[in-house]
Amino acid sequence: MAVSNAEISEIVDGLSADPKQISPKYFYDERGSRLFDDITQLPEYYLTNTELGIMRDNIVEIVAMVGKQASLIEFGSGSSLKTRILLEHLSELAAYVPVDISREHLHASAQQIRDRFPHVDVLPVVADFTQTFALPKPMVMPVRNIVYFPGSTIGNFEHDVAIELLRVMYQEAGKGGALLIGVDLQKDPDIIENAYNDSAGVTAEFNLNMLQHLNRDYGASFDVDEFAHSANYDENKGRVVLELVSQTDQTFAVGDTAFDIADGEAILTEYSHKYTLDGFAAMAGTAGFSVEKVWTDAEQLFSVQFLTRP
Ligand code: TRP
Repeated sequence: MAVSNAEISEIVDGLSADPKQISPKYFYDERGSRLFDDITQLPEYYLTNTELGIMRDNIVEIVAMVGKQASLIEFGSGSSLKTRILLEHLSELAAYVPVDISREHLHASAQQIRDRFPHVDVLPVVADFTQTFALPKPMVMPVRNIVYFPGSTIGNFEHDVAIELLRVMYQEAGKGGALLIGVDLQKDPDIIENAYNDSAGVTAEFNLNMLQHLNRDYGASFDVDEFAHSANYDENKGRVVLELVSQTDQTFAVGDTAFDIADGEAILTEYSHKYTLDGFAAMAGTAGFSVEKVWTDAEQLFSVQFLTRP
């Protein structure tokens, strides 16, 4: 794999910051993507199954709210079961537009969708969805755009960035458009912490795999065995903090840049924010959306929300 200098500088900059951090995008090499799929199947990881259950239980109402001849614009490549449930039930769709930064991943999953749903006009867009992008022109003129953003991926962005992202979705939804979004909720901290500290250790493997990825593809020299996975829920900030904690005083390098890390010092790898319904509604409102409908499971673990442009 060709190593880009821009990525090396990004990694070096993050590790030069205080606290040290590495962008979550480096989770996803081939093994990382596989481990992530495994996480979604873990008994402790309630998010995926709960969201799926909410979609299944309310699919008739969801489909009615989307309406006929909509263009469904998914932020992310759309290989999930949740997307399939939607496409199975949205019989009169103008187009399905998956948007992802990874061309390879996007085209592979678009082809799977075409094979499975031959009647759907699948129009993938390679773009960084944190910025506005041009939408393709479907063969059938859409009545409205529905942006789809499942998985509580919104929670992986810090507050200000999450609002910026909601603003992009507002733009892409256009006049009369809407956003269907999966949002994880604040709850008993033990339930949350267990979801990110599974007993099989898959989340730990996933987190640590980032260092192996940097060693292999970005000229880093982490001693992976000397780091430990950590995931703590900060109840005040309503977020899980994923970190890799150094188990000793040590040094490592990325390319030509050497770093010291102390025993117990952490490298931040990702946040996962959890929201109250009011807190999320306020954030959505700042971006111009109003919450039209919230579906949850019986235990209020997770929510699927339909936001409109008033
Ligand atoms: N957005 C989901 C969450 O925060 C999925 C996810 C993204 C995740 N990055 C992760 C899960 C890292 C575990 C570890 O839970």
